[in-house]
Order: sequence, then C-alpha cells, then structure tokens
Amino acid sequence: MSGSLARVVVRNWSGSRCSMSAVVWSLVGFLLFLHLYSLVSHNGGKDGEIQFHSSHHPLIRELEEVEEENIQIPPPRGKRSPRAAKRRPKRTTTLIDEFLDENSLLRHVFFPGMKSAIDPMNDAGNNTLYYYPGRIWLDTEGNPIQAHGGGILYDEISKTYYWYGEYKDGPTYHAHKKGAARVDIIGVGCYSSKDLWTWKNEGIVLAAEETNETHDLHKSNVLERPKVIYNDRTGKYVMWMHIDDANYTKAAVGIAVSDSPTGPFDYLHSKRPHGFESRDMTMFRDDDGVAYLIYSSEDNSELHIGPLTEDYLDVTDVMRRILVGQHREAPALFKHQGTYYMITSGCTGWAPNEALAHAAESIMGPWETMGNPCIGGNKMFRLTTFFAQSTFVVPLSGLPGSFIFMADRWNPADLRDSRYVWLPLVVGGPADRPLEFNFGFPVWSRVSIYWHKKWRLPSVWRV
Ligand code: DGJ
Repeated sequence: MSGSLARVVVRNWSGSRCSMSAVVWSLVGFLLFLHLYSLVSHNGGKDGEIQFHSSHHPLIRELEEVEEENIQIPPPRGKRSPRAAKRRPKRTTTLIDEFLDENSLLRHVFFPGMKSAIDPMNDAGNNTLYYYPGRIWLDTEGNPIQAHGGGILYDEISKTYYWYGEYKDGPTYHAHKKGAARVDIIGVGCYSSKDLWTWKNEGIVLAAEETNETHDLHKSNVLERPKVIYNDRTGKYVMWMHIDDANYTKAAVGIAVSDSPTGPFDYLHSKRPHGFESRDMTMFRDDDGVAYLIYSSEDNSELHIGPLTEDYLDVTDVMRRILVGQHREAPALFKHQGTYYMITSGCTGWAPNEALAHAAESIMGPWETMGNPCIGGNKMFRLTTFFAQSTFVVPLSGLPGSFIFMADRWNPADLRDSRYVWLPLVVGGPADRPLEFNFGFPVWSRVSIYWHKKWRLPSVWRV
C-alpha cells in the first residue's frame, strides 16, 4: 500500500469510527430521553392520581381533563346512647357502603331521579348531545332505555348505530334466599341512533319464552350481555349472549340470527363453547372479518378466547386460555393501531369493583395486564370503575385512539333502574405498569378512562 493510500484509508476509517460513535451516543441519548419521559409523564399525582394527560389529538383534550369529585359522606343517622357507642365504636362508612345502601342519603348522587333524566327530545339547547353518566336516559318516546349489559353495532348498510342489551323492565326478586337479585328474562332490547345520543326504541328483538319451561329463553332463566355482529358473507346479523339458569350453573352461550338489525332474531340453541363453562362474554369482529368469542370460564378464574366459524354461528376448535388465575369478567375488547386492548372487571356479583386494562399483540394472546385505566373522580370512584362495570367499547371513527367506554351502574335493589355510565376512553401515552418491555421501553400504550359529570363528543365527530 502506498503511503498516501494508507493515509486515506486511515482517515476514512477514523472518520467512520467517529460518525459511528456519534450515532451510538445519539441513540443512547434518545433512548435515555424516552426512558425519562416514560418515567416522568405518568407519575404526576400521588396516590395513583394523575393530574393531566396530554393527548396526541388536540380535538379530544377537553375529554382528557381530570375532573375530581368531592362527595361528603353524611354523618350516621339516629342517636346512639353513650353506652352503645362505647360497646361498639362507630364504624366509618365509605362511599362504597353508601353506594350499596339503598337507604343512603347519597342515593341521589349515584341514582339521580327522573327530574334530571337525559331527554334527547326535550334537551335541545344547552344540554344537546351531553352524556351525564348515571342519570336516567330516555329514548325518543320518553321511556328509560332498557339495554343493560349491552353492546353497539354500527350497521354500514343503514349507516346507523344499534344498541342491544338486556331489557330488564320487570320486578327484581331473589329466586331463593341465597340467590342473586334477578329480573325474569323479558328479552333483548334494541335501540337505533345516528348520533349515539338520541335512541329510538326498535323493540324487543329476541323475546323470552313464556310457557315452555325447558326452553333456554324461559323467563325463569338468565339472558345476559347480548352482542350482535354482522356477517357480510352470509348477510346475517348474529347475536351471541350468556345463557344460564337462575343459579348460574348452566354457564353457556346462546346464538340467534336475523336478516335485519332490528330483528326478529331466531334463537338457534345454547352450548358450552369448546366444552367449557361460559358466563360473562363478548364478541369482537377483527378487520379481516374473523370474529372471536371471549368468555369467563373455569369458575370465572380465567377467560377463553377463540375464533368463530366463517358464518359466525359456532366456535372452531381453536381456543386459548388467557388471564389465567386473574378472576376477571365483563370483558370489553377493542383494537388500536394493530394492538388489542381489553377492559375487564373483577367478580363481585352486582357490586362494582376495580377495572383493569389488558393488552396483546395477537388477539389470541398472550394478554398482559396493565393496570386500572380509570382517571379522575376520587379514589373510590377509580376503585369501583366509577361505580359501574364494563360492557363494551365503541370505536369513534375519525378520531383514532378515542373510544366510548360503556359500563353498567347496576342497581341490585331494582335492576331495571340500573344506569349507564358512558365515558371517553383514550389510548395513548406510556402505560402505568407495562410488563412487556422492548429495549427497556414499554410496549403498550396507556388506556385511560376519564371521569366526567357531563361531557360530549368532540364537534368534529358529531354527525
Ligand atoms: C356479574 C356479571 O358481570 C353480570 O353480568 C351478572 O351476571 C352479575 N354478575 C350477576 O350477579
């Protein structure tokens, strides 16, 4: 090698070494910055309280404002003799005690009366399109909406939303001393809407069976959490639901089918999917048209997930156990930018408990648990999913990463008077407790459900 050539080679080599180390250091710096950002940006408040979550989307900033609740617990009623007070010291009541007490002075906070009902036919002006979680919600005929444990289908053909749910407008009773509060099956209610706020009653699209006691839909049984999806290969609307006996020992799914979103649905049969118990359940139709059934199984200790057949009328042989040993129910599944998310509740009957958000890269799992998605209200609101239980998550087309979280505030004393808690759900920002890391960085985005006393969809979305 000549001397000048050797000098060029040495200069080039040292030049590339220099730019290599620059690249490496910038990369390290960038990764450190990301890491610091992920640490700082989600520990704003103490006690799990998050003060502000800035969104990627300016249009939904309003929905992400953190609204606190300051509810004063009233002092215990009635006078106690000093001797009684000494014997049994005063028990401090919590907000959840008040919620569960039908005679609580705070009853109106959780179950406001008819006067404050959301009435889309008469709420023109200041209240138009506003959701008030927990208030009575009237349909276009002025009757309280009966669609509990429900789900929403957007029908591309009629460009209409359909809300299906348990029609529970009957008396609440206990089948026996230890039995859970129940309402006889009446059927599946269906409501239609163009704006997700004004709902027209389309009637009972799958009705109870009055006389045949051996029928799954006999009024003495249980029909819960109906969900409807559309199959564009067969042109059929397919409904899956939880079918049970009054003691919840049958633990099955029921399947019904219709040519129209407003029914009537023909009930086909019930079965134990994959041969396993199935209680709380939901459906999810993926972008590729494959639909999935997700259900609580093995005594509610785990969830099972599996694809349906092409006609959506049955499960296939494929099934995975997910969230094993986590004892979750009320699953509500959704997808954002190729990642699957799910909100679930704990298993405490009609009483509210803490929601958890889960995420997965593949719908069949593995699923990871990220933590409690609830933000705002107060600590008890967050620990009780705002005194409600998940049922469905509605994607808002045109607002990627924004959804409506649908939940039920059950009223076990009078189940027909259970309320709807609809709140904005946003996917974005680093997760609180990401278990899965890639090069030390969380893989999952945070799922946040924001408490609001009153809120409405951003104007861009309103139709
Ligand atoms: C909790 C479930 O999520 C509800 O759908 C209902 O089955 C109640 N349990 C009954 O106690």
